[in-house]
Amino acid sequence: MCGIVGYVGRQPAAPLLFEGLQQLEYRGYDSAGVALVGSSRLRIHKAAGRVGVVAAAAPKRLSGRTGIGHTRWATHGEPTDANAHPHTDAAGEIAVVHNGIIENAAELRATRLADVAFRSETDTEVLAHLIAAQPEGELAERVRLALLEVEGAYGVAVVGVGEPDRIVVARNGSPVLLAVGEHEMFVASDAAAVIRHTDQIVHLDDRELAVVTAEGYRTSTLEAEPTDRQPVRARLVATAFDKAGHRDHMHKEIHEQPVAVERALRGRLDHRHSTSHLGGLHLAPRDVLGLRRVKVLGCGSAHYAGMAGALQIEALARIPADAEVASEFRYRNPIVEPDTLYVAVSQSGETFDTLAAVQEVQRKGGTVIGIVNTAGSSIARACETGIYLHAGPEVSVTSTKTFTSTGVAFALLGLLLGRTRDLGPADGRRLIAGLEALPGHLATVLEAEDEITRLAGLLADAPGAFYVGRVRGHHVALEGAQKLKEVSYVHAEAYPGAELKHGPLALVSEAHPTVVVIPDDDLWDKNVGTIAEIRARRGPVLAVTDADDDVPGATATIRVPRTEPELAPLLLGVPLQLLAYHAARRLERDIDQPRNLAKSVTVE
Ligand code: G6P
Repeated sequence: MCGIVGYVGRQPAAPLLFEGLQQLEYRGYDSAGVALVGSSRLRIHKAAGRVGVVAAAAPKRLSGRTGIGHTRWATHGEPTDANAHPHTDAAGEIAVVHNGIIENAAELRATRLADVAFRSETDTEVLAHLIAAQPEGELAERVRLALLEVEGAYGVAVVGVGEPDRIVVARNGSPVLLAVGEHEMFVASDAAAVIRHTDQIVHLDDRELAVVTAEGYRTSTLEAEPTDRQPVRARLVATAFDKAGHRDHMHKEIHEQPVAVERALRGRLDHRHSTSHLGGLHLAPRDVLGLRRVKVLGCGSAHYAGMAGALQIEALARIPADAEVASEFRYRNPIVEPDTLYVAVSQSGETFDTLAAVQEVQRKGGTVIGIVNTAGSSIARACETGIYLHAGPEVSVTSTKTFTSTGVAFALLGLLLGRTRDLGPADGRRLIAGLEALPGHLATVLEAEDEITRLAGLLADAPGAFYVGRVRGHHVALEGAQKLKEVSYVHAEAYPGAELKHGPLALVSEAHPTVVVIPDDDLWDKNVGTIAEIRARRGPVLAVTDADDDVPGATATIRVPRTEPELAPLLLGVPLQLLAYHAARRLERDIDQPRNLAKSVTVE
């Protein structure tokens, strides 16, 4: 969500900070700012607006070789100049950038900091004043003491006049990492901000603090116990963040799906035993035999991908499986069972509610694995075992390639669980062949982009749209509607096909189109019946199918290649991504950074 950068070294910091913020803008983008530190004063430039605009308006004299920066996605207080980070104490000697939420901010304002004249509505400003309220001493020690008074989640970077050679950084539940260069160090909430400069990354643990100077760093716990954190090599490559000739990241990422799927499969298909090999899972066959249930946890598109995954697992392994929104799960005092396998799904690996659900399962003694894209992320580390997607960075706020790659990860998991239980080798081979053919099939779907672009006009011009599907088609419909809403702002709702007549049909008219996801399975006739219901009310129908023929009654049919039934949703979802993308293009939306949304929601 919000992004943090920091620089300390020999170069002018401001351009490096703005460059880093630009790389992080996909995480949050309603305001931005930097603080440069000198021996006698801080220089601060911050404003509401996108990083590019804020950077262009920066004064020339924004000099200094140490600084911190922030790009924000508003939680506490509107996106205004005053609420933009960095925030300072009353004397203007300490500057703080912060991701996360200080839960006792209101209480601190009313008690400990009752005399302070606050200039913003943010919880971050509370932190700046709280650091200043500590006894005189080294900045790092004052930050440490202040954080001991704070409840909540944070990743913070702090600079202070008088110590212009250092940045103090701390983490609790919201990521910050250090990156080691030659006589320079970077700080960032995401390696994307620094990967152009160095791939030597130091991850911090929760409740850990670091003092960072040009020549190195030292780390300790918030209880002042020294810790030993060595750099690891980041696997990201800088070019992964370029648009590679595409107009935007969403388009690039949709087109990366054949390669992303290849990468998710690489080294994981075991032809000899007609199963999959998942090195990060450490699930003994005896444990698999003992499983009585699988429960998938995630948010947003990760939840829809989880619904698809639960179906795959039920189909392949015949273990009862379902998916639940991660926040709902943890708020209903869930019963955690020893013979349930919990699966946390998260592209970023940083979604707060999903991480909290993981912790709830673990606190109650359950076993939870992760299906995560970002290596070393909080959820990946909390789960310890799991399946990485290896999809490469996903920059567009809306998920596309990681949705599909998650489906592949679930197919691999279903195959493994199934083959350990009742799935026969012939079915195993069938599925492996289907998975191997998937990248080629995805490429074929993408070739139909021109036709899909034309059809997207129907959605762009509509007051709203329905998406319907049954069983395998239902979660494809849910994700399709989500995509349309997110990037085009056209209202869209998804329903199981049979639910249409229980309410939504009231809205169907010539102006209100429905996208019907219709796999060529034994529910075909039922879906054709649904289309007839819609057409009887003159509703236009866009059908997406893997059948060989046009769908009876549909206004238009988009066809994808035929694959194994369990894998069909992975292909049927792609035209819906393109429909949403081209509807948004037509409406001239800001596709990679839709209004009000953030790539990873690291607050509650
Ligand atoms: C945000 C994003 C969604 C994403 C969800 C879960 O809301 O805008 O696109 O699906 O978070 O993110 P995760 O990183 O956990 O998959």
